[in-house]
Amino acid sequence: MRILSGIQPSGKLHLGNYFAMMKPMIEYQKEADLFCFIASLHSLTTMIDPKELEANIMETAASFLALGLNPNKSIFWVQSDVQEVSFLAWILSRQISTMKLQLSHSYKDKTAHGVSPSSALFFYPVLMTADILAFGADRVPVGKDQKQHMEICRLIANRFNQHYGEVFTIPKIEEILSSQGLIPGIDGYKMSKSRKNIIPIFDTEKNIKKSVMSIVTDSKGVQEVKDPENSPLYQIYCLFLDKEGQQELADKFRTPGTGYGHIKAELYQRILDYFQPFHKKRMELLQKPDEIRDILKHGASKASKEASPILENVRRKVGLVY
Ligand code: TRP
Repeated sequence: MRILSGIQPSGKLHLGNYFAMMKPMIEYQKEADLFCFIASLHSLTTMIDPKELEANIMETAASFLALGLNPNKSIFWVQSDVQEVSFLAWILSRQISTMKLQLSHSYKDKTAHGVSPSSALFFYPVLMTADILAFGADRVPVGKDQKQHMEICRLIANRFNQHYGEVFTIPKIEEILSSQGLIPGIDGYKMSKSRKNIIPIFDTEKNIKKSVMSIVTDSKGVQEVKDPENSPLYQIYCLFLDKEGQQELADKFRTPGTGYGHIKAELYQRILDYFQPFHKKRMELLQKPDEIRDILKHGASKASKEASPILENVRRKVGLVY
């Protein structure tokens, strides 16, 4: 069983990245062959500063490794180090019309929020499709916002197979956090860097505190009954709690006597405690950038080996072996 996913190296890692992507991926290592990469080429659709991209790649790699990604067990690499993927994206683009890509919510949403409407951004779902098909992934765990991209991936794979024979594994879409929906940011909308509503996981205590204290609430006072439903504070706090703890927190909301400020202070402490052990490991790794580079290069060579027979088959099928 091959599970694959990618993360964009687009800035400070936050609770949304961690709970919706990194944590599930790290846990999957127990039961599956994990393919995990840093989507550097996808980031080029939004980032223009090369120094920043470079730093973000190292930062994302160090964090993932510190949080428990095991590069000896899993394959962990930087997307742009495996050239087969962009080659495959070009071949696959023949299988989807521009009209279909125009329906992409993500494209519409990003351009509406000021991202440049480049052809790269338009092509994004095809590149993502190549990421998945090049490695024969069986399952791709994604958040709700990536579901449409996965449908495009399956469509392209099916069309290709219909035309050329069974070349690609058709990946299953696996919705993570489907019971909880999206992880809200401090303003109640999906947590994302571009909305500037994140709670960072590795940052100064001051910055983390500032974010937590800014989580929106209604204006209910200490002695009033509060509603946990639809409260981003409740939803974010629940990420750190088991079922029982979530029930207790809901009761706390519904029982007069605890103010939002108090609950926020508790949540802040939880966040610090939770990430504390990883913080040190991450700092150590960042002191040894060559070690990180070695791990990533080794991962890229393993990934490339996996892609190679699939790509060879594609070349033959489409008529590029002569
Ligand atoms: N588009 C994904 C995101 O922004 C990242 C990504 C790129 C990805 N390629 C992928 C995720 C392939 C899963 C599979 O979150």
